[in-house]
Amino acid sequence: MDLHSAEQHANLSRFLLSRREALERHAGEEWSSAGPKSVAPYVPCASARVGALLHAARLSEEDVVYDLGCGDGRVLHAAAAQHGCTCVGLDIDADCIAEASGRAAEQGLSSRCSFAACDLLALTTGALRCGDLGDALAPAERGRRFPPPTAVLIFLTGHGLSRLAPLLHREWEAGPALRLLTCVEALDD
Ligand SMILES: C[S@@+](CC[C@H](N)C(=O)[O-])C[C@H]1O[C@@H](n2cnc3c(N)ncnc32)[C@H](O)[C@@H]1O
Repeated sequence: MDLHSAEQHANLSRFLLSRREALERHAGEEWSSAGPKSVAPYVPCASARVGALLHAARLSEEDVVYDLGCGDGRVLHAAAAQHGCTCVGLDIDADCIAEASGRAAEQGLSSRCSFAACDLLALTTGALRCGDLGDALAPAERGRRFPPPTAVLIFLTGHGLSRLAPLLHREWEAGPALRLLTCVEALDD
């Protein structure tokens, strides 16, 4: 097991396996990573892996990077701080979105990082490209607009990725160029 995998496994244990009972209490909540709309648990990307992911994305200040299922926003905070890009984080979990926004503010990154509660599976074709996420946004977020992405990061379960893949493929095909990057890690139950 390499260093990345060891840290990722520790995150899996800390955020998922050892919190089963706590997560079950949120199982009925619509805007929760443990709720019925979720296709992946909240397990943050290993810090050792973030740099490799951002390097693979070949980011610059011109980029608009989305993290689909952004969790606490750590990957985007690093992208904004290290590469100066504009970042948009979307997640089903309202608590994660609040934490991601708070941490961006603490780090002086609010002007470059936007976060919104959003159900990725409710996105319609073209929504990401036109920056109007429509009814996929949580009711309190509706009407917000976002810049179109040039790079999209996705770290979900295999099941979640399969559900989202047709939409991402259509967005990618529509052009202009869009880089799609994902982490491969066993998160499925
Ligand atoms: C494995 S975590 C990845 C977190 C973050 N991208 C990172 O790398 O640190 C997956 C995230 O996807 C979110 N998620 C699951 N289903 C979702 C959905 N239907 N819409 C939006 N986000 C979802 C979860 O709440 C969770 O925060």
